[in-house]
Amino acid sequence: MNVILGIESSCDDTSAAVLIDGILRSNVIAGQKVHEAYGGVVPELASRAHQKNILPVVSEAIRQAGIKKEDLTAIAYTRGPGLLGSLLVGTSFAKGLSLGLNIPLIDVNHLQAHALSHFVKENPEDETPSFPYMCLLISGGNSQIIIVKSPEEMEIVGKTIDDAAGEAFDKCAKVMGLPYPGGPHIDRLAAEGNPDAFKFSKPHIPGLDYSFSGLKTSFLYTLRDNLKQNPDFIEENKADLAASLQKTIIDILLDKLAKAVKIYQPREIAIGGGVSANSGVREAVKKFCDERGIRSWIPKRAFTTDNAAMVAIAGALRFSKDYNTDYSLPPYARTTISNQD
Ligand code: KG4
Repeated sequence: MNVILGIESSCDDTSAAVLIDGILRSNVIAGQKVHEAYGGVVPELASRAHQKNILPVVSEAIRQAGIKKEDLTAIAYTRGPGLLGSLLVGTSFAKGLSLGLNIPLIDVNHLQAHALSHFVKENPEDETPSFPYMCLLISGGNSQIIIVKSPEEMEIVGKTIDDAAGEAFDKCAKVMGLPYPGGPHIDRLAAEGNPDAFKFSKPHIPGLDYSFSGLKTSFLYTLRDNLKQNPDFIEENKADLAASLQKTIIDILLDKLAKAVKIYQPREIAIGGGVSANSGVREAVKKFCDERGIRSWIPKRAFTTDNAAMVAIAGALRFSKDYNTDYSLPPYARTTISNQD
């Protein structure tokens, strides 16, 4: 029996998951409500919450999988990128447990884990992508077009030069007075609104790179100008504002994806990261792929935001009999999608 424990602590979710012979048996996630009052993640509070959550979350994942910790074969953990204090909690815990149980440790790159999340199987017959495939990785911290050549070999061919798609959702939601994180609120409101009610500016960036900061400014100016005439403008138009914002973000994402498809001609496209939970994005990417005869991989919502199931599978794909991360390797806050040793 091959039993991999995954541990994720890169931002504000403490998560642990167990894979038995490649099949997911548990995926426990403890979110952190403490940040809501601040309109964004407060790093110091995140590390403290991870410290409080990590033991109960790991114990619960092991319990739900119906195993004992002594049954574990190896431990995969997120080494980076992310918030350094948060990563330190997961990294130290994973190292301690690996040392205590005398089993191998597998460091995982968080961005690679997002790109590989489609390999998580809940049933043996679940299908998985074939290499190479294209991945649109869209989260609170990243917007990237990646060519996934193998579990470890990934090439970023386009990326944001300023804000990430998730930040565009969250920052615009914030100016509308919606709670943090705003992405899911925009998604919910957009379902009731007219996506053509408002026009916001789109970037003109060459190549495959993204930019979302101009959209944020254009959204802000629209609110400011209209609020001068009507103080209830946001309240009266919130569904249309959300729908128009969501449509603009989707258009920006798909414009560059279409360019990337022309160049790289992928047979399969996957999406991943928190923003891939968005209903409009999911529908648009599926339609985009169907129209071009490309196979689309749209993740289950549970595997879009930060979760340890994707860390466990990324670790399992890296794992071999002699693999063992050096205990002296520190976590890293920033890196690209390649592994950093
Ligand atoms: O991958 P993720 O959990 O971690 C970070 O990179 O931080 O992504 C979080 C991001 C946030 O910006 C959040 O607003 C966005 O994903 N998000 C959504 C939706 N669900 C989460 N954005 C739009 N629609 C959603 N349904």
